[in-house]
Amino acid sequence: GKKWTEVKDLTHELKDKVVLIRGRAQTIRAVGKKMAFVVVRERGFTVQCVLTVAQDVVSPQMVKFTTILSRESIVDIEGIVSVPAQSITGASQQDFCLDGGRCLVLVRGYCLLKVVLVEIQVRKLYCVNKAIPTLPINIEDAARSEVEIEKALQAGEQLVRVNQDTRLNFRVLDIRTPANQGIFRIQCQVENIFRQFLLSEGFVGIHTPKLIAGSSEGGSAVFRLDYKGTPACLAQSPQLHKQMSICGDFGRVFEIGPVFRAEDSFTHRHLCEFTGLDVEMEIKEHYSEVMDIVDRLFVTMFDNLNEKCSKELEAINRQYPFENLKYLRKTLRLTFEEGVQMLKEAGVEIDPLGDLNTESERKLGQLVLEKYGTEFYILHRYPLAVRPFYTMPCHDDPKYSNSFDVFIRGEEIISGAQRVHVPEFLTELMTYDLEKYGAPPHGGFGVGLERVVMLFCALNNIRKTSLFPRDPQRIAP
Ligand code: 4AD
Repeated sequence: GKKWTEVKDLTHELKDKVVLIRGRAQTIRAVGKKMAFVVVRERGFTVQCVLTVAQDVVSPQMVKFTTILSRESIVDIEGIVSVPAQSITGASQQDFCLDGGRCLVLVRGYCLLKVVLVEIQVRKLYCVNKAIPTLPINIEDAARSEVEIEKALQAGEQLVRVNQDTRLNFRVLDIRTPANQGIFRIQCQVENIFRQFLLSEGFVGIHTPKLIAGSSEGGSAVFRLDYKGTPACLAQSPQLHKQMSICGDFGRVFEIGPVFRAEDSFTHRHLCEFTGLDVEMEIKEHYSEVMDIVDRLFVTMFDNLNEKCSKELEAINRQYPFENLKYLRKTLRLTFEEGVQMLKEAGVEIDPLGDLNTESERKLGQLVLEKYGTEFYILHRYPLAVRPFYTMPCHDDPKYSNSFDVFIRGEEIISGAQRVHVPEFLTELMTYDLEKYGAPPHGGFGVGLERVVMLFCALNNIRKTSLFPRDPQRIAP
């Protein structure tokens, strides 16, 4: 086979070398009849390719062929790497980032100047597959930040703002933007770190059924279906089956799998199908052992994302600017009562035995940030009445429960608890054989993958972090 180079790997070191790349023709520009420029994009990285008519290398027909290529067509290009005169050399890698074959010179994160990094002087160009000539989304427009859009509009540029629905309708185009490429690579890393961390802590990865006989979380938000003549539903969580696995002596389990919620609410943070990251484990003495796992897992995750995904975060940041998440080395834990008290002192009265609503969660997030300097914290000892039926009451005060929620930037990403494992509470769970045969004390938590990515990157809508989102109004593409 031939040796292929990825666009992201094109650097000064390849100067004068012949390379072979495959990508999409993002923009095509003719200069007279003897020259053409094609910006080729591969996985969010771009490089400018130059065709200049020269005997035995590039014919006028080839230039013509290039200029009538449709945008987003797949092209193979063989050419020589060149370093344009105005390019900088000698800057260290962390000083710049790639952008359209250009290099943004960054000083303490601020963009100083744009210079062309490398170009390709084309020798051969093949069209592997054509895209249709009129695209519903222009990738360059879809990749602009709000600030860039405003500037362009003020400068009188013709520009179509690409709205969320259009993006989702034509998702196969939309996910080609650098920010989207970054988002889904980060998502993959979150999942990967979750798995690696738990494996290193002695957890076993399991898979539980998604076709089940009854609701797993209680409540009505369940998709019903016909299972060979018997009513059944899609699992709202692996809750009962992960507990059964603990009763089956695995000790510690995790699952990464789809979760279905027939949500009626059309909000920025609810999907009808999302990816659940679930954990369940034996508890030796106290439910804080479960929170210890949350603490170390997420501190490890945030450290890793910041360290290993800097290019992806940079790409997201350029379209959707955000500040890095503030978190502590040891995650802050507040009791629900302490939270209620903090809200009260700030003039927000809430029912001390009720639940927090979106607004009070946000407010508490702000107060916690001001007081403790963190945007990631655990709130525990929730009132029992607002938790699911399988939650363990506190032994010292049964109005409260051994349960917790975890927040990023004032929004919930996790809920967890110790579970009831003793028969006197267990009427509803009896049917699942959970405790009949000897259940160890246990607890766990569930995390929404899309929410973690959304809130880590401070994105405003969960549809941005779901590749093909499913919500109350969308089941396609
Ligand atoms: O809070 P939830 O419903 O808790 C459970 O499913 C429990 N079985 C977890 C446990 O082990 N005790 O869901 C857990 C997480 C939420 O914190 C949220 O991040 C996410 O799943 N989530 C959703 N994400 C997207 N769309 C929805 N409709 C979601 N509902 C919950």
